Amino acid sequence: MMRTTTASVLAALLLGCGGAGTYKEPEGTITFDPERPDMASPGTVAPYAGTNAFVLEAQTRMPTGMDLQRKVILRTCGPTNGVCHNQKEYPDLHTTGTFASAINAPCNLQPGTFGSVYDRCERLGDRFKMTEQKFKEIEIGWYEVIVGAYVEYKDNETPPSDAAGFHLHLRDPVPLDKGRAHWGTGAFLRNFVNADGNVEMLSFANYNTRWWVLDDGRHLYGEVRDYQAEDMEELQAVGIIQGDQNRNGTFGAREGQSVPLINPGKPEESYLVARMRGHMQGDPIPGTRMPLANQPPSVTDMLAIMCWIEGLDPNAKAWNLSSSINYAGCSYSANPEALSLVGAGVHFADRVWPILQSSCGGCHGGSNPQAGLDLLSPGAWNRLQAFSLQNPTLKLIDSGRPEKSYLWLKLAGDGSVSGSRMPLDPLNSGSRSLPQDQLDSIQTWILAGALND
Ligand code: HEC
Repeated sequence: MMRTTTASVLAALLLGCGGAGTYKEPEGTITFDPERPDMASPGTVAPYAGTNAFVLEAQTRMPTGMDLQRKVILRTCGPTNGVCHNQKEYPDLHTTGTFASAINAPCNLQPGTFGSVYDRCERLGDRFKMTEQKFKEIEIGWYEVIVGAYVEYKDNETPPSDAAGFHLHLRDPVPLDKGRAHWGTGAFLRNFVNADGNVEMLSFANYNTRWWVLDDGRHLYGEVRDYQAEDMEELQAVGIIQGDQNRNGTFGAREGQSVPLINPGKPEESYLVARMRGHMQGDPIPGTRMPLANQPPSVTDMLAIMCWIEGLDPNAKAWNLSSSINYAGCSYSANPEALSLVGAGVHFADRVWPILQSSCGGCHGGSNPQAGLDLLSPGAWNRLQAFSLQNPTLKLIDSGRPEKSYLWLKLAGDGSVSGSRMPLDPLNSGSRSLPQDQLDSIQTWILAGALND
């Protein structure tokens, strides 16, 4: 009854606009077979029906990529003024939008020290040639501007390798005479894909000066006189892509090793995961482990990250963060415990140190560690044998005696320590406690002799 009425009203309204005519109800039936989206993908996936507690928890807490971004990524990063904002090496993943755009995005683009760049984040470098010379363009490894007072070298002199000016390090030697200057225009070239889909090489910057070939021929020195300072600034501002950004002789992209921040379908080859783990496929990753000072991701968090990335279709053009994570079909659901970032047992190397590195290394590491205590770089065990700066009557670690180990007292929140309980937690403007199981492990390790094992 209701349906007919609605239809009649609708028909009357439509006809009202059209003017004349008598409306007749259509006869017969129209078979209606709409093309509905396949509900099995990507909207809903068959839920995990096993018994592993980590998988069940991940499925409840983080059913979709969006939950993962909110509950793991955002938490570990801090929504505002979090630690990550202060860390130039950390990619911006603060919104679901920036998180999704990390899929297939190049890694390590954030400015930082060159040494913090991982070979597998390097991109194909731009190329260099000299307009007046015959040699074929050569890939750029890295460049450096050495600041200092201008010194004029004669044409037949050889400037030192660290002369003030522009230093360009190339992949192959430049086939020009050493020991004398070459006047000319250095052209910087890059490949573009043009509107027709063809690769085209364009010269995107020039620098005109006197050049010398130094060292083994792969090092070019370009003079920068005072009147050229502006040209030099412009050249740097265009953003030359350096194929060997970390200056270690390996051209990561050239060796077919490039990985993106998030590699759809390949969690093991996603830089984001590698930065959390501190290694990629057995290779150590330079730089501090993410998420720096905050609570490291739990097994459940890691499982959500791995399963989400594994389930991303590498051939898709866009990814929907609200799609369900397929825990049932995820290879990591078979053994989520193996994803633990803090190891197992109570040995220094595989349990205690990873805890210190991941929970403390963000502050107690790098070139200027807090309280002069470096817990991050190799040799940490030796440094733990020293006396505390805050309380020089106690050693940081006193083998067999947690109650005399100043580092332990700082962790346990003992009332006798100076300063705050560790780890300091800048996000909550105070301190927090390590999880009980980690405290237990550290205490057990000290009681058992605090061995370097
Ligand atoms: C957010 C930064 C931050 C984090 C994270 C952090 N610390 Fe600290 N740490 C500090 C600062 C700042 C001081 C000096 C001020 C103080 O003690 O409150 C300090 C001091 C210390 C000292 C005293 C050193 C001495 O020689 O007396 C110890 C020990 C220590 N931290 C251990 C740890 C351990 C272990 C962790 C990880 C579980 C940790 N810290 C995490 C910032 C941090």
